[in-house]
Amino acid sequence: MTREQSPPVDALVFFGATGDLAYKKIFPALQALARRGRLEVPIVGVAKSAYTLEKLLERCRASLTEHGGGVDEAAFERLAANLRYVDGDYNDADTFTRLAAELRGARRPLHYLAIPSSMFPVVVKQLHASGLTEGARVVVEKPFGRDLASARELNRVLREFFEESSIFRIDHYLGKEAVQNILYFRFANAFLEPILDRRYVENVQITMAESFGVKGRGWFYEETGVIRDVIQNHLLQVVSYLAMEAPSAMYAEAIRDEQAKVLRNVRPLSVADLVCGQFRGFRDEPGVAPDSAVPTYAALRLHVDSWRWAGVPFYVRAGKSLATTATEVVIELKHAPQVVFSEPPPAQGNHLRFRLGPEVVIALGARAKQPGEGMTGRPVELSLVEQPAQGTAGRMGDYERLLGDAMLGDATLFARVDGVEAAWAIVDPVLHDSGPLHTYEPGTWGPTEADVLVANVGGWNTPS
Ligand code: BG6
Repeated sequence: MTREQSPPVDALVFFGATGDLAYKKIFPALQALARRGRLEVPIVGVAKSAYTLEKLLERCRASLTEHGGGVDEAAFERLAANLRYVDGDYNDADTFTRLAAELRGARRPLHYLAIPSSMFPVVVKQLHASGLTEGARVVVEKPFGRDLASARELNRVLREFFEESSIFRIDHYLGKEAVQNILYFRFANAFLEPILDRRYVENVQITMAESFGVKGRGWFYEETGVIRDVIQNHLLQVVSYLAMEAPSAMYAEAIRDEQAKVLRNVRPLSVADLVCGQFRGFRDEPGVAPDSAVPTYAALRLHVDSWRWAGVPFYVRAGKSLATTATEVVIELKHAPQVVFSEPPPAQGNHLRFRLGPEVVIALGARAKQPGEGMTGRPVELSLVEQPAQGTAGRMGDYERLLGDAMLGDATLFARVDGVEAAWAIVDPVLHDSGPLHTYEPGTWGPTEADVLVANVGGWNTPS
């Protein structure tokens, strides 16, 4: 597969160095990159926290202990040797003068904005004013805007200072091994593609269930809600990999072209295809309004108006405080004709199952004869791939992969402007009016009202 790479960066700057994301994801990714010898450039953390470099190193150690599988002393030493820190306000030009001094003439820095998107314009303007956008790349975190209009505006601002090829919009789902495997498995096998279309597929279901609530991030969630938090980005990226046409290996942008193309074929959502819920107790969370109408659960039916998928529903549901934590895709095939055996039709047809997390599984579901006299069957599953959860030794983390790719200048696994805007266009009609909000009990599968959506396809796939 052709992947475009420009010259590797010669410095890495990360804004939000003392924040939550740096603590949970960035330091562990940096240690992993250092371990593989991929971090031999100055690394500058920037934040306004009255920190010193020593304090940042302490925080880095704590982060690695808690989220990075422990401190690898040799890798940590390499990371620490390259780490610098600038403390200052993003509105203050002096912060950027000091940053420029720490960069010591780097000509191709990568600026990673691990900060709220409302701060992106401030930071990129300051970078530009200090001459730090020249030859640079920028990595921005999700959520990328709040709706189609604000995403467009954000893109406009970024593109004032950076070429599209220098903008890397992170969606960590694209860095997941299991999500990469959807693409690989689909297009590396000859047996599958001929049947993945409206003639053979009954429906596609994607469930992203999380058994925990908002984990103290009530203020963030109150602003965001489930559709902006995980559906517009993570799950629509998964839809694009499942539904896109085969990208050609002839040019670097082929994958992102196909993703954008298929997302443009997804009909904008209407309230008739959506059921929203909120778990009981959400309104008691700090930062959440006592009468909050923000959904923590959504189930939706998507229509992909392409030749391949016309008439095949794609069901997507995601929620907090559900019965388990699991993300799973099931592609269910149409039933075999009931003309040979006189048993009642099975609940589910043959299927292909991709478990995206916590573990990685690819399995094929079929029916086989029940041992014994009669010609009756039972469901069986052939497991083709089984890998343990991320964080287990040897498995590359999503941020490690993405940060490494951005440093090499490979944007394949980052969201491109047209894909991001196409995804917003799908959810935009329901962001401000998402219909009735149903309360559900924590630890359940969400509001039972969502069952109506899948009533004529035998119900929801329930990941175990
Ligand atoms: C984040 C969301 O982007 O993804 C969180 O903000 C969510 O709310 C998380 O829990 C899920 O990521 P993962 O990798 O644990 O499936």
